[in-house]
Amino acid sequence: MTDINALKTELTSEIEGAGDLQTLDEVRVAVLGKKGRITALMKTLGSMDPEERKTTGAALNALKDEIADLIKSQERALKKQDMDQRLSTEGEDITLSARQAPHGKIHPISQTMEEMVGIFGSMGFTVAEGPDIEDDFHNFTALNFSPGHPAREMQDTFFLPEDDGEEGEYAKKLLRTHTSSVQIRHMESGEPPYKIVCFGRTYRSDYDMTHTPMFHQMEGLFIDKDVNMGHLKGCLTDFVRAYFKLDDLPVRFRPSFFPFVEPGAEVDIGYTKKPDGGIKLGKAPDGQEQQWMEVLGAGMVHPNVLKNCGVDPDEYQGFAFGMGIERLTMLKYGIPDLRTFFECDTRWLEHYGFDPLDRPNTTTR
Ligand code: DAH
Repeated sequence: MTDINALKTELTSEIEGAGDLQTLDEVRVAVLGKKGRITALMKTLGSMDPEERKTTGAALNALKDEIADLIKSQERALKKQDMDQRLSTEGEDITLSARQAPHGKIHPISQTMEEMVGIFGSMGFTVAEGPDIEDDFHNFTALNFSPGHPAREMQDTFFLPEDDGEEGEYAKKLLRTHTSSVQIRHMESGEPPYKIVCFGRTYRSDYDMTHTPMFHQMEGLFIDKDVNMGHLKGCLTDFVRAYFKLDDLPVRFRPSFFPFVEPGAEVDIGYTKKPDGGIKLGKAPDGQEQQWMEVLGAGMVHPNVLKNCGVDPDEYQGFAFGMGIERLTMLKYGIPDLRTFFECDTRWLEHYGFDPLDRPNTTTR
């Protein structure tokens, strides 16, 4: 016992005498390490008789704990002393430039949607929403798709298991193939006039350079008592010119068919081909051929669609339009491959994304 007490006194003074962390660590190894003094004493327990082993073992364990605690508190004291010393001698270099904090970028899809909200907002449209999981009625039937329309076939539409709780066309669930379904939901939910735009994900079973199974669309609807085709043309011409920031962008309305509009049109914008194979939006200079590309679909809402939503087509009429958001983003910002939008590659986002502090002005045009 006296040996242990003497050892404790000796080790305590060694520990307290360690003036820096390295010396302290050497002491720790010499005492508690594999070949340390306490470790060596522990090994002698095996050769003692049981009674002696019991008392000596307990005393050694207590010593070991006390010494370990002492080393810890000495370590803390030395670290504090170190820090105090640095704080009192080291100054701050206030001329150093601030460290760059990494910050994210806004995805081009989000940017485009915000720009669109800004433009249509300034024309008095508000934003509506609808579900991604739709039923056959809202996605097709109410939009005047005849029963055998090819878009209902399995190759385009992702159908989901039928919902037992619902009946008929409401039971047939699918991932919406377009945002036109939001027109129906919006008209069902209240009285005319209606003046909305809607943004969202849409789904079709397709995959190549220009198609992904999930993509985004924007839909617009304007129904009132005296809305006509002239309003449609003015609104969409203003929109594409504002979006592409080209006041004289040529815009062409070409007759087309969509079941939910009559007459229906596709809207083309003018461009010219550049010698390097690229394109330049705008009016063709003299001597160059004007090229056209389709950017959106539109038309006067079909009377059947209004009736399906409980709106009297003899009193109300108007127009609707729809467009692919990725396509308009690719055109405006020169992004060549649609698939890269959804690969979650942060280098791509760093390159094509937008600074969060530099948001488009969404209140005025
Ligand atoms: N829903 C159509 C599509 O996905 C786009 C569209 C065309 C929407 C004409 C409209 C419209 O509202 O009037 O291709």
